[in-house]
Amino acid sequence: MVEQDFILTSYNNAIDSGKVKWSSPSNIALVKYWGKREHQIPENPSISFTLSNCKTVTEVTFTKKESDSYSFEVYFEGEKNEAFKPKIQTFFERIEVYVPFIKDYHFKIETSNTFPHSSGIASSASGMSAIALCLMSVEEKLTEIMMSKDYFNKKASFLARLGSGSACRSIEGELVVWGQNKSTESSDLYGIKFDGEVHPNFKNYQDTILLVDKGEKQVSSTVGHQLMYGHPFAHQRFEQAHENLANLKAILASGDQKAFINIIESEALTLHAMMMTSMPYFILMKPNTLQIINKIWNYRNENDSNICFTLDAGANVHVLYPEIEKESVLEFIKNDLAAYCQNGHFITDHAGNGAELIKK
Ligand code: DP6
Repeated sequence: MVEQDFILTSYNNAIDSGKVKWSSPSNIALVKYWGKREHQIPENPSISFTLSNCKTVTEVTFTKKESDSYSFEVYFEGEKNEAFKPKIQTFFERIEVYVPFIKDYHFKIETSNTFPHSSGIASSASGMSAIALCLMSVEEKLTEIMMSKDYFNKKASFLARLGSGSACRSIEGELVVWGQNKSTESSDLYGIKFDGEVHPNFKNYQDTILLVDKGEKQVSSTVGHQLMYGHPFAHQRFEQAHENLANLKAILASGDQKAFINIIESEALTLHAMMMTSMPYFILMKPNTLQIINKIWNYRNENDSNICFTLDAGANVHVLYPEIEKESVLEFIKNDLAAYCQNGHFITDHAGNGAELIKK
């Protein structure tokens, strides 16, 4: 599908008001998106596990108004929130051409997260995808033609991408690919459910998020992506992501856990290496991040385990492991890793099936 396919040309705005509600999860990238062009087009393909417990629940109430400008209010966890408004304003500006009805209605956006607000977990993926899905439900109500589930999901992902790139990977599960590549069905415009074979070893994969640093992000993702402009290693990095995705596709099918670990950990460290070698440069890992990584490596060697780690653009560690090791790894996390987390906090999660419509 191309951009034009997502432009809504006719709709019935006779509906005066309504309410829609979605829950949308966060996701964790295995091959990382880092670097983008104008209009939120990724420089390289990425693939992620959709999460299950870490999600945003958003209710949108829409009321007819004069069609002149955007009008919306945001409530976060029950309280009016002004801080989120500029990001949503930018989002509305980017998507107006695709959902022109956003000027015909006033939107009350009430949102909350299942994970603690200041956990350092990026809420933009779950938050932006939840709003995108709500707007798609509004579109569905305003159009007379039945919309296919495929179109609904693709356009939701397309809109979410314009809010935050990684948000386009939160609509479906358990694995989603975003960004054109030769190995899988894909698009730069939206995320697509991974079409390859997935060995049982990689089903319901576990992700425990160790909250090493709950503070504000040191580098916002907008600034972070910009660091890839003129980066001396950018070209090689983008090529590497293509290769890693192609190799990962074969690994996911074969069930080769050691090969999986090599790609996942290398991707995480490459992401951080890109930040360390940018101008300006950043170190986003904390001493406890490194302590945890070393503990994970020791545990893996001593127990012949398939545990591994990945990182986002921050100090927190995502501990990934197969479902079969759930009990033993959780014991290890509680006994040996929790001490390196802020206030001992960690969140247990696992791969999930994507966003859900919440019916009244
Ligand atoms: C390191 O999606 O947050 O988590 O498009 O500017 O909103 P924007 O960036 P964002 O970047 C996420 C980067 C990452 C890797 C990933 O999720 O693929």
